[in-house]
Amino acid sequence: MNDIQILIVDYGSQYTLVIGRTLRELGVRSIILPPNKVDRWLKDNTPKAVILSGSHWSVHNEGAPGIPKSLDITGQNKNKQYFILGICYGMQLLAHKLGGIVERPLTYREYGPAKVNVNTKHPLFKNIKEKTEVWASHGDTVTKLPKDFSTIAVSGKNNAISSMSNKSNRIMGIQFHPEVVDTKEGKKILQNFLNISDCQKDWDPKNLIHEIQKEVLDIVTSSQPSPDRRGRKGEVNKKNVVLGVSGGVDSTTLAAILAPVLGKRLICVAIDTGGLRANELTELKKNTKSAGVKNLVVIPAGDEFIKNIGLTIDGEEKRMKFREVYKRIFEEQIAKYDASFIAQGTLATDIIESGKIGKSAMIKTHHNVGLAWKVQDLHPLRNLFKYEVRELARALNLPKTVYERNPFPGPGLYLRIVGTPVSKENIELVREADKTVADILKKHDIAKDISQLIVALLGINSVGVKGDERVYGHSLAIRAVQTSDFMTAKGYYFPQAVVDEITSALTKHKNIVRVFFDMTPKPPATTEFE
Ligand code: XMP
Repeated sequence: MNDIQILIVDYGSQYTLVIGRTLRELGVRSIILPPNKVDRWLKDNTPKAVILSGSHWSVHNEGAPGIPKSLDITGQNKNKQYFILGICYGMQLLAHKLGGIVERPLTYREYGPAKVNVNTKHPLFKNIKEKTEVWASHGDTVTKLPKDFSTIAVSGKNNAISSMSNKSNRIMGIQFHPEVVDTKEGKKILQNFLNISDCQKDWDPKNLIHEIQKEVLDIVTSSQPSPDRRGRKGEVNKKNVVLGVSGGVDSTTLAAILAPVLGKRLICVAIDTGGLRANELTELKKNTKSAGVKNLVVIPAGDEFIKNIGLTIDGEEKRMKFREVYKRIFEEQIAKYDASFIAQGTLATDIIESGKIGKSAMIKTHHNVGLAWKVQDLHPLRNLFKYEVRELARALNLPKTVYERNPFPGPGLYLRIVGTPVSKENIELVREADKTVADILKKHDIAKDISQLIVALLGINSVGVKGDERVYGHSLAIRAVQTSDFMTAKGYYFPQAVVDEITSALTKHKNIVRVFFDMTPKPPATTEFE
Protein backbone atom coordinates (compact mmCIF):
# COMPACT_ATOMS: atom_id res chain seq x y z
CA MET A 1 0.00 0.00 0.00
CA ASN A 2 1.28 3.49 -0.84
CA ASP A 3 2.77 5.71 1.81
CA ILE A 4 0.45 8.29 3.28
CA GLN A 5 1.03 11.58 1.47
CA ILE A 6 -0.67 14.00 3.84
CA LEU A 7 -0.24 14.47 7.56
CA ILE A 8 -2.95 16.44 9.33
CA VAL A 9 -1.86 17.75 12.72
CA ASP A 10 -4.94 17.88 14.89
CA TYR A 11 -5.00 20.84 17.27
CA GLY A 12 -8.45 19.92 18.47
CA SER A 13 -10.74 21.69 16.02
CA GLN A 14 -14.13 20.12 15.58
CA TYR A 15 -13.46 20.24 11.83
CA THR A 16 -10.23 18.25 11.73
CA LEU A 17 -11.97 15.05 10.70
CA VAL A 18 -13.81 16.96 8.03
CA ILE A 19 -10.45 17.95 6.52
CA GLY A 20 -9.53 14.24 6.30
CA ARG A 21 -12.86 13.33 4.83
CA THR A 22 -12.75 16.12 2.24
CA LEU A 23 -9.29 15.03 1.13
CA ARG A 24 -10.55 11.48 0.78
CA GLU A 25 -13.44 12.77 -1.32
CA LEU A 26 -10.76 14.39 -3.47
CA GLY A 27 -9.17 10.96 -3.76
CA VAL A 28 -6.23 11.36 -1.37
CA ARG A 29 -5.63 9.50 1.89
CA SER A 30 -4.30 11.27 4.98
CA ILE A 31 -3.36 10.51 8.54
CA ILE A 32 -4.62 12.63 11.41
CA LEU A 33 -2.38 12.80 14.46
CA PRO A 34 -2.36 14.93 17.60
CA PRO A 35 0.81 17.08 17.88
CA ASN A 36 2.44 14.79 20.47
CA LYS A 37 2.44 11.84 18.08
CA VAL A 38 3.86 13.66 15.10
CA ASP A 39 7.59 13.42 15.89
CA ARG A 40 7.51 9.66 16.13
CA TRP A 41 5.51 9.31 12.93
CA LEU A 42 7.85 11.63 11.03
CA LYS A 43 10.77 9.39 11.95
CA ASP A 44 9.42 6.66 9.67
CA ASN A 45 7.40 8.68 7.18
CA THR A 46 7.90 11.59 4.81
CA PRO A 47 4.66 13.24 3.80
CA LYS A 48 4.33 15.42 0.74
CA ALA A 49 2.14 17.86 2.58
CA VAL A 50 1.20 18.81 6.13
CA ILE A 51 -1.99 20.53 7.23
CA LEU A 52 -2.16 22.22 10.63
CA SER A 53 -5.74 22.23 11.83
CA GLY A 54 -7.77 24.84 13.66
CA SER A 55 -8.21 24.84 17.41
CA HIS A 56 -10.10 26.33 20.31
CA TRP A 57 -6.72 27.53 21.68
CA SER A 58 -5.16 30.96 21.27
CA VAL A 59 -1.43 30.89 20.54
CA HIS A 60 -1.05 33.19 23.57
CA ASN A 61 -2.71 30.80 26.04
CA GLU A 62 -0.46 29.06 28.48
CA GLY A 63 -0.19 25.42 27.42
CA ALA A 64 -1.34 26.10 23.85
CA PRO A 65 -0.16 23.25 21.61
CA GLY A 66 2.87 24.15 19.50
CA ILE A 67 4.67 22.91 16.42
CA PRO A 68 6.07 19.38 16.84
CA LYS A 69 9.86 19.50 17.16
CA SER A 70 10.72 17.63 14.02
CA LEU A 71 8.24 19.46 11.80
CA ASP A 72 10.13 22.01 9.75
CA ILE A 73 8.00 25.12 9.21
CA THR A 74 10.77 27.23 7.74
CA GLY A 75 10.78 25.43 4.40
CA GLN A 76 14.59 25.67 4.50
CA ASN A 77 15.48 22.14 5.50
CA LYS A 78 16.41 20.29 2.31
CA ASN A 79 15.52 16.91 3.87
CA LYS A 80 12.03 18.00 4.83
CA GLN A 81 10.57 19.25 1.62
CA TYR A 82 6.89 19.11 2.43
CA PHE A 83 4.32 21.81 1.78
CA ILE A 84 2.48 23.22 4.77
CA LEU A 85 -0.99 24.69 5.02
CA GLY A 86 -2.08 26.19 8.34
CA ILE A 87 -5.82 26.55 8.76
CA CYS A 88 -7.14 29.13 11.27
CA TYR A 89 -5.16 28.35 14.47
CA GLY A 90 -2.69 26.53 12.22
CA MET A 91 -2.05 29.77 10.32
CA GLN A 92 -1.81 31.80 13.54
CA LEU A 93 0.66 29.30 14.96
CA LEU A 94 2.82 29.52 11.83
CA ALA A 95 2.75 33.33 11.94
CA HIS A 96 3.48 33.41 15.69
CA LYS A 97 6.39 30.96 15.48
CA LEU A 98 7.93 32.53 12.40
CA GLY A 99 8.11 36.06 13.83
CA GLY A 100 4.75 37.53 12.83
CA ILE A 101 2.18 39.00 15.23
CA VAL A 102 -1.11 37.44 16.27
CA GLU A 103 -3.57 39.67 18.12
CA ARG A 104 -7.12 39.67 19.36
CA PRO A 105 -8.49 42.95 18.06
CA LEU A 106 -11.49 44.27 20.00
CA THR A 107 -13.36 45.36 16.91
CA TYR A 108 -12.50 42.67 14.36
CA ARG A 109 -13.62 39.12 14.77
CA GLU A 110 -15.22 36.77 12.31
CA TYR A 111 -17.75 34.13 13.24
CA GLY A 112 -19.71 32.51 10.43
CA PRO A 113 -20.04 33.59 6.80
CA ALA A 114 -17.53 36.12 5.49
CA LYS A 115 -16.39 37.50 2.15
CA VAL A 116 -12.76 37.29 1.19
CA ASN A 117 -10.79 38.90 -1.66
CA VAL A 118 -8.20 36.47 -2.93
CA ASN A 119 -5.15 36.84 -5.12
CA THR A 120 -6.11 34.52 -7.95
CA LYS A 121 -2.53 34.52 -9.22
CA HIS A 122 -1.42 32.51 -6.22
CA PRO A 123 -1.70 28.74 -6.96
CA LEU A 124 -3.73 28.21 -3.77
CA PHE A 125 -6.48 30.37 -5.25
CA LYS A 126 -6.19 29.30 -8.87
CA ASN A 127 -9.64 29.33 -10.53
CA ILE A 128 -11.24 30.77 -7.38
CA LYS A 129 -13.52 33.81 -7.69
CA GLU A 130 -11.76 37.02 -6.72
CA LYS A 131 -14.45 37.69 -4.12
CA THR A 132 -15.38 34.38 -2.58
CA GLU A 133 -17.70 33.36 0.25
CA VAL A 134 -16.06 31.57 3.14
CA TRP A 135 -16.81 30.36 6.62
CA ALA A 136 -14.62 31.68 9.43
CA SER A 137 -14.55 31.39 13.18
CA HIS A 138 -11.77 33.20 14.96
CA GLY A 139 -11.10 35.81 17.61
CA ASP A 140 -7.33 35.98 17.05
CA THR A 141 -5.98 37.40 13.81
CA VAL A 142 -2.58 37.62 12.19
CA THR A 143 -1.84 41.37 12.15
CA LYS A 144 1.78 41.25 11.00
CA LEU A 145 3.24 38.69 8.64
CA PRO A 146 6.48 36.85 9.25
CA LYS A 147 9.50 37.86 7.17
CA ASP A 148 9.34 36.75 3.53
CA PHE A 149 5.59 36.18 3.65
CA SER A 150 2.97 38.07 1.67
CA THR A 151 -0.77 38.47 1.99
CA ILE A 152 -2.71 36.45 -0.58
CA ALA A 153 -6.25 37.11 0.65
CA VAL A 154 -7.92 39.83 2.72
CA SER A 155 -11.29 40.21 4.39
CA GLY A 156 -13.46 42.89 6.02
CA LYS A 157 -13.39 46.66 5.71
CA ASN A 158 -9.86 46.87 7.04
CA ASN A 159 -8.47 44.33 4.62
CA ALA A 160 -7.49 42.00 7.46
CA ILE A 161 -4.99 39.29 6.53
CA SER A 162 -7.05 36.26 5.56
CA SER A 163 -4.38 34.17 3.89
CA MET A 164 -0.60 34.25 3.65
CA SER A 165 2.17 32.51 1.78
CA ASN A 166 5.93 32.52 1.90
CA LYS A 167 7.93 33.39 -1.17
CA SER A 168 8.45 29.83 -2.36
CA ASN A 169 4.74 28.97 -1.84
CA ARG A 170 5.86 26.18 0.45
CA ILE A 171 4.35 27.51 3.68
CA MET A 172 0.81 28.85 3.50
CA GLY A 173 -1.96 29.80 5.87
CA ILE A 174 -5.67 30.49 5.59
CA GLN A 175 -7.67 32.11 8.33
CA PHE A 176 -11.02 30.67 7.22
CA HIS A 177 -12.07 27.02 6.98
CA PRO A 178 -11.88 25.53 3.47
CA GLU A 179 -13.10 22.15 4.79
CA VAL A 180 -16.50 23.52 5.86
CA VAL A 181 -19.20 23.31 3.17
CA ASP A 182 -20.18 26.94 3.78
CA THR A 183 -16.85 27.92 2.25
CA LYS A 184 -18.29 27.79 -1.24
CA GLU A 185 -15.03 27.07 -3.06
CA GLY A 186 -13.29 25.34 -0.15
CA LYS A 187 -12.94 21.99 -1.89
CA LYS A 188 -11.32 23.68 -4.88
CA ILE A 189 -8.87 25.44 -2.55
CA LEU A 190 -7.92 22.12 -0.97
CA GLN A 191 -7.59 20.59 -4.43
CA ASN A 192 -5.23 23.45 -5.32
CA PHE A 193 -3.17 22.64 -2.24
CA LEU A 194 -3.03 18.97 -3.33
CA ASN A 195 -1.84 20.11 -6.77
CA ILE A 196 0.79 22.45 -5.30
CA SER A 197 2.18 19.63 -3.19
CA ASP A 198 1.95 17.11 -6.03
CA CYS A 199 -0.25 14.67 -4.11
CA GLN A 200 -1.54 11.89 -6.32
CA LYS A 201 -4.90 10.20 -6.01
CA ASP A 202 -4.41 7.11 -3.88
CA TRP A 203 -7.84 6.52 -2.45
CA ASP A 204 -9.80 4.12 -4.59
CA PRO A 205 -11.43 1.23 -2.75
CA LYS A 206 -11.12 -1.21 -5.66
CA ASN A 207 -7.41 -0.46 -6.08
CA LEU A 208 -6.82 -0.73 -2.35
CA ILE A 209 -8.51 -4.13 -2.23
CA HIS A 210 -6.37 -5.26 -5.11
CA GLU A 211 -3.19 -3.92 -3.48
CA ILE A 212 -3.97 -5.67 -0.20
CA GLN A 213 -4.61 -8.96 -2.00
CA LYS A 214 -1.37 -8.58 -3.90
CA GLU A 215 0.62 -7.68 -0.79
CA VAL A 216 -0.67 -10.73 1.08
CA LEU A 217 -0.24 -13.04 -1.90
CA ASP A 218 3.35 -11.82 -2.38
CA ILE A 219 4.11 -12.72 1.22
CA VAL A 220 2.37 -16.07 1.34
CA THR A 221 3.67 -17.05 -2.07
CA SER A 222 7.03 -18.39 -1.22
CA SER A 223 9.85 -17.77 -3.67
CA GLN A 224 11.84 -20.33 -1.70
CA PRO A 225 11.01 -24.01 -1.74
CA SER A 226 9.01 -24.61 1.41
CA PRO A 227 10.87 -26.89 3.85
CA ASP A 228 8.49 -29.80 3.60
CA ARG A 229 7.44 -29.52 -0.05
CA ARG A 230 9.60 -29.34 -3.09
CA GLY A 231 8.20 -26.10 -4.45
CA ARG A 232 9.63 -24.30 -7.41
CA LYS A 233 10.47 -20.59 -7.43
CA GLY A 234 7.28 -18.52 -7.41
CA GLU A 235 5.15 -21.46 -6.35
CA VAL A 236 2.49 -20.92 -3.74
CA ASN A 237 3.57 -22.14 -0.35
CA LYS A 238 0.80 -24.61 0.39
CA LYS A 239 0.54 -23.80 4.08
CA ASN A 240 -2.56 -22.16 5.43
CA VAL A 241 -3.37 -18.69 6.72
CA VAL A 242 -5.30 -18.44 9.96
CA LEU A 243 -7.41 -15.29 10.20
CA GLY A 244 -8.89 -14.15 13.50
CA VAL A 245 -12.49 -13.11 12.91
CA SER A 246 -14.79 -11.36 15.36
CA GLY A 247 -17.77 -10.67 13.09
CA GLY A 248 -16.91 -6.96 13.16
CA VAL A 249 -16.32 -4.78 10.13
CA ASP A 250 -12.50 -5.05 10.13
CA SER A 251 -12.05 -8.80 10.26
CA THR A 252 -15.08 -9.49 8.06
CA THR A 253 -13.78 -7.07 5.43
CA LEU A 254 -10.35 -8.63 5.60
CA ALA A 255 -11.90 -12.09 5.24
CA ALA A 256 -13.83 -10.88 2.18
CA ILE A 257 -10.62 -9.45 0.68
CA LEU A 258 -8.59 -12.61 1.28
CA ALA A 259 -11.19 -15.32 0.62
CA PRO A 260 -11.14 -14.99 -3.19
CA VAL A 261 -7.35 -15.17 -3.40
CA LEU A 262 -6.64 -17.72 -0.67
CA GLY A 263 -9.70 -19.93 -1.04
CA LYS A 264 -9.55 -23.00 1.20
CA ARG A 265 -6.13 -22.00 2.52
CA LEU A 266 -7.89 -19.30 4.57
CA ILE A 267 -8.98 -20.70 7.93
CA CYS A 268 -11.11 -18.19 9.82
CA VAL A 269 -10.99 -18.73 13.55
CA ALA A 270 -13.53 -17.13 15.86
CA ILE A 271 -13.24 -17.42 19.61
CA ASP A 272 -16.33 -17.43 21.74
CA THR A 273 -14.63 -15.55 24.56
CA GLY A 274 -17.68 -15.52 26.80
CA GLY A 275 -17.52 -11.72 26.54
CA LEU A 276 -19.58 -11.37 23.38
CA ARG A 277 -22.80 -9.40 23.14
CA ALA A 278 -26.20 -10.98 22.67
CA ASN A 279 -26.59 -12.55 19.18
CA GLU A 280 -22.97 -11.81 18.30
CA LEU A 281 -22.05 -15.37 17.39
CA THR A 282 -25.05 -15.80 15.09
CA GLU A 283 -24.18 -12.55 13.31
CA LEU A 284 -20.55 -13.58 13.05
CA LYS A 285 -21.52 -16.78 11.25
CA LYS A 286 -23.80 -14.86 8.89
CA ASN A 287 -21.16 -12.21 8.19
CA THR A 288 -18.32 -14.62 7.45
CA LYS A 289 -20.64 -16.51 5.12
CA SER A 290 -21.42 -13.35 3.19
CA ALA A 291 -17.67 -12.65 3.06
CA GLY A 292 -17.28 -15.87 1.08
CA VAL A 293 -15.35 -17.72 3.78
CA LYS A 294 -15.09 -21.47 3.14
CA ASN A 295 -13.59 -22.53 6.49
CA LEU A 296 -14.88 -21.11 9.75
CA VAL A 297 -13.90 -22.63 13.09
CA VAL A 298 -15.58 -21.45 16.32
CA ILE A 299 -13.71 -22.19 19.55
CA PRO A 300 -15.78 -22.07 22.75
CA ALA A 301 -13.48 -20.71 25.47
CA GLY A 302 -15.66 -18.61 27.78
CA ASP A 303 -14.77 -20.50 30.96
CA GLU A 304 -11.04 -20.14 30.43
CA PHE A 305 -11.31 -16.41 29.77
CA ILE A 306 -13.57 -15.74 32.76
CA LYS A 307 -11.35 -17.75 35.08
CA ASN A 308 -8.22 -15.84 34.05
CA ILE A 309 -9.62 -12.35 33.67
CA GLY A 310 -11.60 -12.65 36.89
CA LEU A 311 -8.30 -12.75 38.82
CA THR A 312 -7.82 -8.98 38.62
CA ILE A 313 -9.80 -5.75 38.40
CA ASP A 314 -6.96 -3.73 36.89
CA GLY A 315 -7.79 -2.66 33.32
CA GLU A 316 -4.37 -3.30 31.82
CA GLU A 317 -3.89 -6.59 33.68
CA LYS A 318 -7.25 -7.77 32.38
CA ARG A 319 -6.13 -6.94 28.85
CA MET A 320 -2.89 -8.86 29.44
CA LYS A 321 -4.77 -11.92 30.69
CA PHE A 322 -7.08 -11.69 27.70
CA ARG A 323 -4.11 -11.57 25.34
CA GLU A 324 -2.49 -14.59 26.97
CA VAL A 325 -5.54 -16.80 26.53
CA TYR A 326 -6.25 -15.36 23.06
CA LYS A 327 -2.70 -16.14 21.94
CA ARG A 328 -2.70 -19.62 23.40
CA ILE A 329 -5.90 -20.55 21.57
CA PHE A 330 -4.66 -19.16 18.27
CA GLU A 331 -1.37 -20.99 18.59
CA GLU A 332 -3.27 -24.21 19.05
CA GLN A 333 -5.29 -23.53 15.91
CA ILE A 334 -2.22 -22.51 13.90
CA ALA A 335 -0.62 -25.85 14.76
CA LYS A 336 -3.82 -27.78 14.15
CA TYR A 337 -4.34 -26.31 10.68
CA ASP A 338 -0.67 -26.37 9.75
CA ALA A 339 -0.71 -22.62 9.13
CA SER A 340 2.37 -20.55 8.33
CA PHE A 341 0.68 -17.19 8.79
CA ILE A 342 -1.73 -15.47 11.10
CA ALA A 343 -3.68 -12.53 9.70
CA GLN A 344 -5.63 -10.00 11.75
CA GLY A 345 -7.81 -7.01 10.93
CA THR A 346 -5.73 -4.56 12.97
CA LEU A 347 -6.28 -0.92 11.97
CA ALA A 348 -4.04 2.15 12.09
CA THR A 349 -5.87 3.36 15.21
CA ASP A 350 -5.20 0.11 17.09
CA ILE A 351 -1.52 0.37 16.28
CA ILE A 352 -1.28 4.03 17.23
CA GLU A 353 -3.14 3.51 20.52
CA SER A 354 -1.09 0.47 21.40
CA GLY A 355 2.02 2.65 21.42
CA LYS A 356 3.46 1.21 18.25
CA ILE A 357 4.07 4.79 17.28
CA GLY A 358 4.82 7.59 19.74
CA LYS A 359 7.04 7.26 22.80
CA SER A 360 4.48 8.09 25.44
CA ALA A 361 1.63 6.96 23.31
CA MET A 362 0.70 3.66 24.93
CA ILE A 363 -2.93 4.12 25.85
CA LYS A 364 -4.21 0.58 25.81
CA THR A 365 -2.75 -2.80 25.05
CA HIS A 366 -4.89 -3.90 22.15
CA HIS A 367 -5.64 -7.58 22.28
CA ASN A 368 -4.09 -8.38 18.92
CA VAL A 369 -1.24 -5.87 18.50
CA GLY A 370 2.39 -6.71 19.19
CA LEU A 371 1.89 -10.41 19.96
CA ALA A 372 4.97 -12.51 19.25
CA TRP A 373 3.82 -15.43 17.09
CA LYS A 374 5.86 -18.42 16.02
CA VAL A 375 4.50 -17.87 12.53
CA GLN A 376 4.55 -14.69 10.49
CA ASP A 377 1.77 -12.26 11.41
CA LEU A 378 0.05 -10.12 8.84
CA HIS A 379 -1.86 -6.91 9.48
CA PRO A 380 -3.00 -6.04 5.95
CA LEU A 381 -5.35 -3.23 7.10
CA ARG A 382 -2.73 -1.56 9.31
CA ASN A 383 -2.69 1.73 7.35
CA LEU A 384 -6.43 2.18 7.25
CA PHE A 385 -8.95 3.91 9.47
CA LYS A 386 -12.37 2.60 10.32
CA TYR A 387 -14.24 4.82 7.87
CA GLU A 388 -11.94 3.63 5.10
CA VAL A 389 -12.54 -0.02 5.94
CA ARG A 390 -16.27 0.67 5.77
CA GLU A 391 -15.74 1.97 2.23
CA LEU A 392 -13.87 -1.21 1.30
CA ALA A 393 -16.70 -3.31 2.76
CA ARG A 394 -19.15 -1.36 0.60
CA ALA A 395 -17.01 -1.87 -2.47
CA LEU A 396 -16.94 -5.60 -1.69
CA ASN A 397 -20.75 -5.65 -1.62
CA LEU A 398 -20.85 -6.90 1.94
CA PRO A 399 -24.26 -6.41 3.58
CA LYS A 400 -25.13 -3.05 5.18
CA THR A 401 -25.16 -4.77 8.58
CA VAL A 402 -21.42 -5.27 8.15
CA TYR A 403 -20.28 -1.88 6.89
CA GLU A 404 -22.57 0.08 9.20
CA ARG A 405 -21.73 -2.03 12.20
CA ASN A 406 -20.46 -0.30 15.32
CA PRO A 407 -17.09 -1.52 16.55
CA PHE A 408 -16.79 -3.80 19.53
CA PRO A 409 -13.45 -4.44 21.24
CA GLY A 410 -11.82 -7.88 21.09
CA PRO A 411 -11.80 -8.24 24.89
CA GLY A 412 -15.52 -7.49 24.68
CA LEU A 413 -17.69 -7.19 27.74
CA TYR A 414 -14.68 -7.88 29.98
CA LEU A 415 -13.69 -4.23 29.49
CA ARG A 416 -17.14 -3.18 30.58
CA ILE A 417 -17.02 -4.53 34.10
CA VAL A 418 -15.12 -1.81 35.85
CA GLY A 419 -13.73 -1.81 39.36
CA THR A 420 -15.26 -5.14 40.31
CA PRO A 421 -14.15 -8.66 39.42
CA VAL A 422 -15.51 -10.31 36.30
CA SER A 423 -17.87 -13.21 36.96
CA LYS A 424 -20.36 -15.16 34.87
CA GLU A 425 -23.22 -13.35 36.64
CA ASN A 426 -22.02 -9.83 36.04
CA ILE A 427 -21.11 -10.57 32.42
CA GLU A 428 -24.66 -11.79 31.95
CA LEU A 429 -25.93 -8.60 33.58
CA VAL A 430 -23.95 -6.30 31.24
CA ARG A 431 -24.89 -8.39 28.22
CA GLU A 432 -28.57 -8.04 29.04
CA ALA A 433 -28.22 -4.31 29.83
CA ASP A 434 -26.36 -3.74 26.56
CA LYS A 435 -29.17 -5.40 24.62
CA THR A 436 -31.83 -3.42 26.48
CA VAL A 437 -30.14 -0.08 25.69
CA ALA A 438 -29.33 -1.04 22.10
CA ASP A 439 -32.99 -1.98 21.52
CA ILE A 440 -34.20 1.33 22.94
CA LEU A 441 -31.81 3.26 20.70
CA LYS A 442 -32.95 1.28 17.68
CA LYS A 443 -36.58 1.95 18.55
CA HIS A 444 -35.92 5.71 18.75
CA ASP A 445 -33.90 5.61 15.52
CA ILE A 446 -30.87 6.96 17.39
CA ALA A 447 -28.55 4.01 16.76
CA LYS A 448 -27.64 5.37 13.31
CA ASP A 449 -26.29 8.62 14.84
CA ILE A 450 -23.97 6.83 17.24
CA SER A 451 -20.52 5.46 16.47
CA GLN A 452 -20.37 3.19 19.50
CA LEU A 453 -22.45 2.36 22.54
CA ILE A 454 -20.87 1.29 25.79
CA VAL A 455 -22.83 -0.10 28.70
CA ALA A 456 -20.60 -0.76 31.68
CA LEU A 457 -21.11 -2.20 35.11
CA LEU A 458 -19.40 -0.01 37.69
CA GLY A 459 -17.97 -1.41 40.89
CA ILE A 460 -19.78 1.20 42.92
CA ASN A 461 -22.47 -0.14 45.15
CA SER A 462 -24.90 2.38 46.49
CA VAL A 463 -28.16 2.64 48.33
CA GLY A 464 -31.50 2.75 46.61
CA VAL A 465 -35.10 2.10 47.39
CA LYS A 466 -37.31 -0.36 45.56
CA GLY A 467 -40.85 -1.16 46.58
CA ASP A 468 -40.34 0.62 49.94
CA GLU A 469 -37.32 -1.51 50.63
CA ARG A 470 -33.74 -0.44 50.97
CA VAL A 471 -31.46 -2.02 48.37
CA TYR A 472 -27.72 -1.86 48.14
CA GLY A 473 -26.91 -2.51 44.51
CA HIS A 474 -24.83 -1.89 41.40
CA SER A 475 -24.57 1.06 39.04
CA LEU A 476 -24.42 1.04 35.26
CA ALA A 477 -22.77 3.64 33.07
CA ILE A 478 -24.10 4.41 29.61
CA ARG A 479 -21.84 6.04 27.10
CA ALA A 480 -22.44 6.73 23.43
CA VAL A 481 -19.87 8.45 21.26
CA GLN A 482 -19.72 10.02 17.83
CA THR A 483 -16.51 9.83 15.88
CA SER A 484 -15.22 8.84 12.50
CA ASP A 485 -11.81 7.46 13.44
CA PHE A 486 -11.87 6.80 17.21
CA MET A 487 -8.73 8.89 17.70
CA THR A 488 -11.01 11.56 19.09
CA ALA A 489 -14.69 11.30 19.96
CA LYS A 490 -17.60 13.40 21.20
CA GLY A 491 -19.96 12.20 23.91
CA TYR A 492 -23.53 11.87 22.63
CA TYR A 493 -26.36 13.62 24.52
CA PHE A 494 -29.53 11.51 24.51
CA PRO A 495 -32.90 13.26 24.46
CA GLN A 496 -34.39 13.36 27.95
CA ALA A 497 -37.20 10.94 27.11
CA VAL A 498 -34.60 8.37 26.01
CA VAL A 499 -32.55 8.93 29.20
CA ASP A 500 -35.70 8.30 31.22
CA GLU A 501 -36.61 5.19 29.26
CA ILE A 502 -33.12 3.72 29.58
CA THR A 503 -32.95 4.48 33.30
CA SER A 504 -36.36 2.99 33.94
CA ALA A 505 -35.64 -0.15 31.89
CA LEU A 506 -32.27 -0.83 33.51
CA THR A 507 -33.31 -0.23 37.11
CA LYS A 508 -35.97 -2.92 36.72
CA HIS A 509 -33.14 -5.35 37.41
CA LYS A 510 -33.21 -6.13 41.11
CA ASN A 511 -29.52 -5.31 41.62
CA ILE A 512 -29.30 -2.08 39.61
CA VAL A 513 -29.85 1.03 41.65
CA ARG A 514 -28.37 3.86 39.61
CA VAL A 515 -27.63 4.67 35.98
CA PHE A 516 -24.97 7.21 35.06
CA PHE A 517 -24.63 8.84 31.64
CA ASP A 518 -21.12 9.67 30.50
CA MET A 519 -20.64 12.35 27.85
CA THR A 520 -16.91 12.95 28.37
CA PRO A 521 -15.15 13.51 25.04
CA LYS A 522 -12.02 11.65 23.95
CA PRO A 523 -9.61 13.09 24.93
CA PRO A 524 -9.53 13.27 27.91
CA ALA A 525 -11.55 10.04 28.27
CA THR A 526 -11.19 7.07 25.96
CA THR A 527 -14.12 5.37 24.28
CA GLU A 528 -14.01 2.32 26.52
CA PHE A 529 -13.75 2.55 30.30
CA GLU A 530 -10.67 0.34 30.39
P1 XMP B 1 -10.56 3.58 23.04
O1 XMP B 1 -11.25 3.08 24.25
O2 XMP B 1 -9.09 3.39 23.09
O3 XMP B 1 -11.08 2.66 21.83
O4 XMP B 1 -10.93 5.00 22.70
C1 XMP B 1 -11.01 3.00 20.47
C2 XMP B 1 -11.74 1.92 19.70
O5 XMP B 1 -11.02 0.70 19.78
C3 XMP B 1 -11.82 -0.30 20.40
N1 XMP B 1 -10.91 -1.10 21.25
C4 XMP B 1 -10.43 -2.29 20.89
N2 XMP B 1 -10.65 -3.04 19.81
N3 XMP B 1 -9.22 -4.70 20.68
C5 XMP B 1 -10.05 -4.23 19.71
O6 XMP B 1 -10.28 -4.94 18.73
C6 XMP B 1 -8.93 -4.00 21.80
O7 XMP B 1 -8.16 -4.44 22.64
C7 XMP B 1 -9.58 -2.73 21.91
N4 XMP B 1 -9.56 -1.76 22.86
C8 XMP B 1 -10.39 -0.77 22.42
C9 XMP B 1 -12.86 0.45 21.19
O8 XMP B 1 -14.00 -0.32 21.45
C10 XMP B 1 -13.12 1.62 20.27
O9 XMP B 1 -13.95 1.26 19.21
